Amino acid sequence: MPETHGAQASPNLRYGSNAGQPLTRRDGYLKVTGRATYAADNHPEGMLYAVCAVSTIARGRVAHLDVEAAKAHPHVVEVITSANRPPLAGDPEAKGSLFAFRLEALQNDRVRYANQPIALVVAETLEAATEGAALLKPHYEVEPPRLGLDVERFVPETVGVGSPPSIAHGDVEAGLSAAPLSIDATYETPSQYHNAMEPYAIVASWDGDRLTLDTPNQAPYMARAAYAGFFGVPPENVLIRTPFIGGGFGSKAILAGPHILCALAARMTARPVKLALTRAQMFGPVGHRGQTRQRVRLGMETDGRLAAISHHAIAATSSFDDFIEPSAGASRMLYASPAIAITHEAVRNDIGTPGPMRAPGLASGSAALEVAIDEAAEACGMDPLDFRLANYAEVEPITGKPYSSKALRECYAKGATTFGWSGRPRAPRQMRDEDGFLVGWGMGTAVFHCPMFAAEARAALGGDGTATVETSAIDMGQGALTALAQIAADSLGLDIDQVTLRFGGSHLPDGGVAGGSGHTATAGSAIDAAGRNAVARLAELATADRDSPLFGAGNVGVVVRAGRLHRKDDESRSESYADILARAHLAEIDGWGKGARDPATVGDHALQAHGAVFAEVKVDPDLGQVRATRLIGAFAAGRIINPRLVLSQLYGGMIWGASFALHEGSSIDRRTGRIMNADLGEYHVPVNADVPLLEALLVNEDDAFVNSLGIKGVGEISITGTVGAIANAVWHATGVRVRKFPVRIETIMAPTAGA
Ligand code: MOS
Repeated sequence: MPETHGAQASPNLRYGSNAGQPLTRRDGYLKVTGRATYAADNHPEGMLYAVCAVSTIARGRVAHLDVEAAKAHPHVVEVITSANRPPLAGDPEAKGSLFAFRLEALQNDRVRYANQPIALVVAETLEAATEGAALLKPHYEVEPPRLGLDVERFVPETVGVGSPPSIAHGDVEAGLSAAPLSIDATYETPSQYHNAMEPYAIVASWDGDRLTLDTPNQAPYMARAAYAGFFGVPPENVLIRTPFIGGGFGSKAILAGPHILCALAARMTARPVKLALTRAQMFGPVGHRGQTRQRVRLGMETDGRLAAISHHAIAATSSFDDFIEPSAGASRMLYASPAIAITHEAVRNDIGTPGPMRAPGLASGSAALEVAIDEAAEACGMDPLDFRLANYAEVEPITGKPYSSKALRECYAKGATTFGWSGRPRAPRQMRDEDGFLVGWGMGTAVFHCPMFAAEARAALGGDGTATVETSAIDMGQGALTALAQIAADSLGLDIDQVTLRFGGSHLPDGGVAGGSGHTATAGSAIDAAGRNAVARLAELATADRDSPLFGAGNVGVVVRAGRLHRKDDESRSESYADILARAHLAEIDGWGKGARDPATVGDHALQAHGAVFAEVKVDPDLGQVRATRLIGAFAAGRIINPRLVLSQLYGGMIWGASFALHEGSSIDRRTGRIMNADLGEYHVPVNADVPLLEALLVNEDDAFVNSLGIKGVGEISITGTVGAIANAVWHATGVRVRKFPVRIETIMAPTAGA
C-alpha cells in the first residue's frame, strides 16, 4: 500500500475550467479508427485457441464424452474435462467475497444448468478447437429440471450484495386493512441477459508463476485476488489488462468458470490460450438478471396518502449459489408511508446463477412499484403525478434520515412541463393519433443509490508542465476516461490536454469497481485527492525555497491556476510548475490519493439520485402492437462532470428501460431447461427503429455530503423510472394493466383486455 503524501493542507484550487464541460470522448478517435484494442484482439506469440463445450441439458451428469475422438483431431492439443482437470488451489464451490460467485471449472461431472461448461478443447486453430468440441458428443444422465417460480421457496440470508431480505416499519397489515382504498397486484419480470456488444474473451499467459490476462473486467483488483486464490499465487503475480470494454452491465464484474478454465488451459499447455465465448454461451455461466414475481399491496387514504406499502418479491436463483434480485428494496426508497414492509423469498432453479445487472433490484422492483403506484392513483381518482406528490418522501422512508440533496420535485416539474403532462386526460383510451392508433401517456419515478467503492490513484506532475494520472479506471463505454481526466485536470490546475490518464489494468493503482453507478465518484475522488496532493507537495517545495517568488507563502497562501502557483497576497508573484521542478532538479513530483465513502462527510444523510420519466406510447388497436414514441426524463444526480456523456448515459438507460418494458426476456424450454432465444435474433433488444424520441433533462443539484466532489452517479438511474412510465402509458392507451414484462401483444389483445 503506497503512502499518502501531501501532509500539508492543499492549495486553494479553482474548479470549473475542465469539470462541467461537455467534452467529447477522449477515446472516441481510437474507437472509431479501430485502434482501441479489446481482449480478443490480443494474439501473443504461440497462442492456442480454446473452445468451451457446454451442456445441452439443465440437470443431471455427463455420462460420457468422446475425448479420444476430439484428441484424434490433428490440431487439437488438449482436452480438459472433469476427469483430467488438474487440482486448483481454490475451491470453485467456495463462496467468495463480494462479487465472487461459485462457479463451474470442471470440478465434477454434474450439470447444474444448460450452457454450463463441460469440457474445454484447446487447439492450434479456432476451427480445430470448435471441431474438437463438436467431436465430444456428450451423453448425459438426464434429470428433470426445476424451473419457474412455483417451486419450494426459502428466505435468503441476504439479497443483492448483502442487503437484508426483509425490512418492516410500522404495522403494514393494520394499515392495509384500515385503509379505505387499496390495491393488491402481482407483477412478473423475466430473466434477462446482459448481452454486451463484446462477449466474454480471455487471453491467458503464464510466465513461471506469473499470470497475465487480457480480459474485460469491471473490477480488476477483485478479479486479481480471485484468480490468485484459484491458482495459489500471490495477487501481485496476476496482471489483468482491460483497457477497453465493449459493455459490462455487471456481468463483467464477476469471475466465471470460463476465466478459470482458460487460465488453467494456458498453464497445462505452457502456452498462451485465448477463449472467447459465443453469444449463445453468454446465456448461462456469466450471470443474468433473475426472474421475479412481486406482489405489491398499497393502502390509501381517500386523499391519496399511502397508509401502507407491502412489497413482496420472489426471485429465482441457481441450485448452487445465491444471488437474489433485491426487487422489493425499491419500496424503501421512493414514497412516504407510516407503514412499509419489504420481504423477499427465493426459489432454486436449474439455471446459471443470476448476478448484478444494470440497476440490480431497482430496475425490476421499481417496474412493479411504479405500475402499482399508477394503479393506486387510479383507484383514488387522482392524476399519477399529483398522487406521487401527495406521497413525496421529504425524508428517507423507514429511516427518516434527511436526504443529502433531493431535487425530485424539480424533476417532476421540469419533466411534466417539457412533456406537456397537464394536457393528459385521466381516463384511459381517450387519445388517438391521426392514423387511429391509441395514444397513452404514463410516468414513473427514477431512483438509484449512490454507492462508493474504495480506490486509489497516483498523480505525477512532470518537469515539462504536464501530468500523468494513474488508476485502474475502467471505461466500458460510459465515458469514465474523459470524466476522470476532467477531474484530474482540475485537481492539478492544468488543462485537460496537459493530462495523460493511464488506466485499465491491475498494473496501476486500484481504481475500484466500475459498477453501481459509482465509478466517477469513487475513482474521481481518488484522482482528485492525488492531484491535490501532488500540487501540495510542489507548493511545499516552492514555498520553502528562498529563490522562489512563493517563498514563505505557505501552502494555504498559494492558489493554483493554469499550471502555475500564485501567491494569494500578491497574485502577480507566481511560478510555473515546470520552473519549480527544474530548480529542485526533479523530473516529477507525485501525490497519492484515496477515494472512498467518508462517513464524516456524509453525516446522517440518506444518499439517492432521483428522476422523473414521462412516456408516450402508441398502440395499434387491431393488432395490439405497442411502440414507445416519446420519452422525456428529468434527472438530478448531484454534480455533473461532463453533461454530454451524462446525457448519453441517461439516454442509454432510458433505451434500456424501453427494452425492459417492451422487448427483453429469455424464454426457457420447460422440458429441457434450455434457453430458446440465446441469440440476438430472438432475444430482443431495441434497434434504432425501436428507440423513441428521447430527451433527458438535467436538474441542478448541489450536494455537500455525498462526497467531496458532490457526485452521485448516473449510470443506472434512468432505467428505473422508464419501465413503469412505459407500462403506465400502455394502460393509458388501452385500459389494459401491464403486470407482466415485457408487454406482449397477447396481453393487450386478451379477451378481457380493456374491459
Ligand atoms: Mo453494474 S450492475 O453497476 O455493473
